Amino acid sequence: MSNETLQAVRGMNDILPDEAELWLWFEDVVKGWLASYGYRNIRMPLVEPTALFKRAIGEVTDIVEKEMYSFEDSLNGDHLTLRPEGTASCVRAVLQHNLLYNAPQRLYYSGPMFRHERPQKGRYRQFHQIGVEALGFAGPDMDAEQILMCARLWKKLGLTDVTLQINTLGDSACRHRHRAKLIAYFEENLASLDAEATRRLHSNPLRILDSKNPAMQALIEAAPKLMDELNEEALTHFAAVQEILARHGVAFEINSRLVRGLDYYNRTVFEWVTTKLGAQGTICAGGRYDGLVEQIGGKPAPAMGFAMGVERLLVLLQESGMALPKPGVDVYVVHQGELAGKLASTVAEQLRDGNLRVLLHCGGGSFKSQMKKADASCARMAVVIGDDEVAANEVSVKPMQGGAQVRVSVENLTAAVNKLIKQE
Ligand code: HAM
Repeated sequence: MSNETLQAVRGMNDILPDEAELWLWFEDVVKGWLASYGYRNIRMPLVEPTALFKRAIGEVTDIVEKEMYSFEDSLNGDHLTLRPEGTASCVRAVLQHNLLYNAPQRLYYSGPMFRHERPQKGRYRQFHQIGVEALGFAGPDMDAEQILMCARLWKKLGLTDVTLQINTLGDSACRHRHRAKLIAYFEENLASLDAEATRRLHSNPLRILDSKNPAMQALIEAAPKLMDELNEEALTHFAAVQEILARHGVAFEINSRLVRGLDYYNRTVFEWVTTKLGAQGTICAGGRYDGLVEQIGGKPAPAMGFAMGVERLLVLLQESGMALPKPGVDVYVVHQGELAGKLASTVAEQLRDGNLRVLLHCGGGSFKSQMKKADASCARMAVVIGDDEVAANEVSVKPMQGGAQVRVSVENLTAAVNKLIKQE
């Protein structure tokens, strides 16, 4: 048997403690932000029947065709998939538990998603999303609410380098008309299509518009536009979304080539993009998906949602130079001698009763070496306990950023530490 150190799966990352501090801080901000819009948490399994994603995302999409981690359950032969996204699972859960029976729902989830893509900066095989879904809302006010929500979060996080692109995909009748015209147009120009486009011509012609092949750009530019097929309702809906955004001072760009990589969308779609992350510049994306609930077996219900990529957002935050949270504990307790050790653990528990974050030194060593550990822990205060302190039922408190060491009674310690922290 080899004793080589085993490595994590390619494209799946460990989040080490220093970085996890940032994740925890970010998740806290996000939790408050979601609560401020009345969204409630839902948690779905990481594994779902493969058929769910095929039906929801679409058989002829990159995700379903090439990127899903699918496997057969060796015990019963079920076809299962590690979720590549959360919308399908969320709708499945809502229908399975009849949550739409009484009232519309504003829901969010967060956690890992899995896509077998080629890993690069900002693109991983296991990545994390915060997903937001509103089910049972038909009006443009919901489309605008979700876009305004995002704008508020960027502001809260101090992000300025993100821009908003929006588009409308119309309703199914417009899309059918557009699809038929696209097929006819590309059939007339068959010789100019590359292999991928030729393959998609009849299964998913809309995705040809997404092609990055430079040789096809002129052809794509001149292709029939969905905008020209939109019906009155879809146009009015889109205009209303734009009006609300403008009224709230949220700038946007209409990008008629924004079609999204999942088939369930209709009407409004949007993406928040940055130029700071290279090729993987989309930090958040979503749109309306009014047909999905029915497609997954429920009574028809409109819906709208989006998801943001946590890894991408955190890289952007780190690159934006904002002051990120300080790691570390409030107090590091150093002690020497048997009685001091006993007092130290009592004092540590007492400080924790007062909601302070405390590291109690373990493993012995001189005061000097313990103070080095206190320094490395980024603690704000060291509490020092030796024989002298034990004899007086007192402890010494030393601010780690400088300042005089003070002696306080054990009884007054929590108040004294809080006061010193405030003075920092
Ligand atoms: P999506 O555009 O596939 O949409 O993914 C949303 C976001 O997840 C992307 O904008 C990106 O920030 C992040 N992301 C996607 N793939 C990766 C990857 N391989 N590595 C790192 N980050 C990635 C959805 O998933 C839809 N479910 C969004 C939605 C919710 N639509 C309606 N409701």
